Formats: sequence, structure tokens, C-alpha cells
Amino acid sequence: MRRPHLRSLLPAGVVALAAVGGLAFSLTAGAVGRSTSVQTAADSLTPPPIHYVTHFTTAQVKEGEVLFEANCSTCHGTRAEGSAVAPDLQGLGPATVDFWVSTGRMPLANSSEQAEEKPPKFDQAQATDIAAFVASLAPTAPSYPDGIPYVNTKDANLQLGMRLFVLNCAACHTITGAGDALADGAYAPSLHRATSTQVAEAIRTGPGNMPVFGPGTLSNRQVADIVAYVTGVIQHPDDRGGLGLGGIGPVAEGFVALLFGVGGLMVVAFWLGERA
Ligand code: HEC
Ligand code: HEC
Repeated sequence: MRRPHLRSLLPAGVVALAAVGGLAFSLTAGAVGRSTSVQTAADSLTPPPIHYVTHFTTAQVKEGEVLFEANCSTCHGTRAEGSAVAPDLQGLGPATVDFWVSTGRMPLANSSEQAEEKPPKFDQAQATDIAAFVASLAPTAPSYPDGIPYVNTKDANLQLGMRLFVLNCAACHTITGAGDALADGAYAPSLHRATSTQVAEAIRTGPGNMPVFGPGTLSNRQVADIVAYVTGVIQHPDDRGGLGLGGIGPVAEGFVALLFGVGGLMVVAFWLGERA
């Protein structure tokens, strides 16, 4: 008498399992689905996840020209046209130039190695001036992002940022962001010093052996989530428990594990019911 009763529950079990699967899917797919969410009135009131600065003043361009002439032109040429020892910079876009200068990679002292992250020679305002000058020489090529990204991490989702980081970045930079050696003597550097703008610039411009993650791969909101995770959690591992991740992350993960666990038990229960 019991078995038919159990078996009659089977369709409900299948529905429940489908729901569990659907929920798990929607949780993982959330990262992808977010970018396609419809604009609502409320959305337009919240600041965009990334603000790209594309316009520079004549004064900035002039300042940048002086700095470029004194520090870059010996290798890259006076109009950034490139030379036998250094690449053409025209059309690269301000985010690329700002990244290489603000992380201290440029100016380069020894052109035989991978340009290293080192204490920058210029402050952020000077790096922006140099980027403004290079940008004034030629229109930015369509494959490069338009401007210097300023990231709003206040509204970011650390939980999604962590997942996206694990999926897209940890293979090279490691899960802790400590960095690691890659093939061909190259290495992925530590992420512990990068500013939020530099993390976004690296993602969008793909320096050296790092791939470019364009808007088709990661939306601005997803980039902001990753930036928030890198600057908020990776760079402050001791705060882990105090951040939103501690409050939301384990609960959500545990919830999924619980659902899968219960779902698994249900499968076993029904399977036994069928056989017995
Ligand atoms: C000693 C020569 C030298 C000097 C000086 C120098 N560079 Fe470079 N630069 C290079 C070389 C070589 C590379 C290619 C290095 C690499 O890809 O790792 C490069 C790469 C770059 C790149 C990346 C190009 C790309 O396609 O991604 C940028 C941007 C750049 N330099 C900007 C500057 C700026 C701005 C200055 C001055 C502040 C400067 N460089 C000074 C030699 C130099
Ligand atoms: C295929 C390996 C690879 C992947 C995947 C990768 N990177 Fe990188 N990343 C690199 C390499 C190599 C460099 C150094 C480039 C150079 O200096 O020539 C770098 C540089 C950086 C820097 C500059 C750090 C500094 O302070 O100088 C940041 C920030 C960064 N990556 C963030 C990320 C993020 C965030 C992701 C994921 C969205 C990511 N990277 C994915 C290889 C990778």
C-alpha cells in the first residue's frame, strides 16, 4: 500500500527537482542575465556602474605633451608613432595609456623584459594628462574602450564578483590574487596593489598576455562586481567575515548545497521506492 503512494508522489518529486535545478541555474546564470535586465525608472536614478572619462581639457593635453616629450618620446617617438624599440601608441585609447603609466610599467627602463608594475613615476593627474595627449593624436580604435574607467563599487554585488573572479581571473592570478608564473616566462602579477580604475582598465584593455574582456564578455556591472571583489575582499582578506560576502555568501552557497542535498535524497528515495 505504501509503494503506490510513494510512486504517486513521483511527478511532484520531478517537479521539485526541476525547481531546484531551475533555482540553482538562475543563481549561476544570474551573473549573465543581469546585463540584459530592463531599464526601469529606478535604474536611471542609480549611478552607472562605470563612468568612462573620455573628454579632456586643452590644458591637460598640453601638460601631457610636455611629460610625453620628456619621458616617452625617446622610445615611442614625439607623436607616439612608435620606433624600432617601442610600439605605436596612436589609437590605443586613454584607458590603455593610463594603465601603463599609473601602474608604473611606463616609462620603461629596460625594454628587454615584461614591463613590470612598479612605483609609478607620475601621479594620477599626470598619468591622465599623458593619456589625454596620446588620445588627442588619433581617434581611439574601435576595439579599445573609450575612456578612463571610474568604478562605482558601492552598488556592486560581491557574491557575483567572487564567482566572476573565480571563473575569469583566478586561473592566472590565483584565487587569492597573489599572482603566478605563466608559460613563456611571463607572469600574472599580484592584484594586491591595483586601484579600482586599474583593475577595470586591465579587464577592458588586456595588458601584455592578459586577454581583453570586452563588453560582450563582461558587462559594466559585472566588471564593477569583480572590481569590488578584488579591491574589497582580495586586498583585505582579514575583513572577509565583516563584508557582505560573509553575510550573504555562505548562506546562499549553503542554501544551494542544502537544496542539492535534499534533491539528491529525494532521487534516492524515489528510486528505492520504484525498485522495492
Ligand atoms: C625605454 C623605452 C621606453 C620608454 C621610455 C617608454 N616606453 Fe612605453 N613601451 C616600451 C616598450 C618596449 C613597450 C612594449 C612592452 C611590452 O609590451 O611589455 C612599451 C609599451 C607601452 C604601452 C603599451 C602598448 C600596447 O600596445 O599595449 C604604452 C601605453 C606605453 N608603452 C606608454 C608609454 C608612455 C606613456 C611612456 C612615457 C611615460 C613610455 N611608454 C615610455 C618602451 C618604452
Ligand atoms: C591568461 C591569464 C590572465 C587572465 C585570465 C587574467 N589576467 Fe590579469 N594579467 C595577466 C598578465 C600576464 C598581466 C600582466 C600584463 C603585463 O604586465 O604585461 C595581468 C595584469 C593584471 C592587472 C594589473 C595588476 C598590477 O597592479 O599591475 C590586473 C589588475 C589584472 N590583471 C586583473 C585581472 C582580472 C580582474 C582578471 C579577470 C577578469 C584577469 N586579470 C584575468 C594575466 C591574466
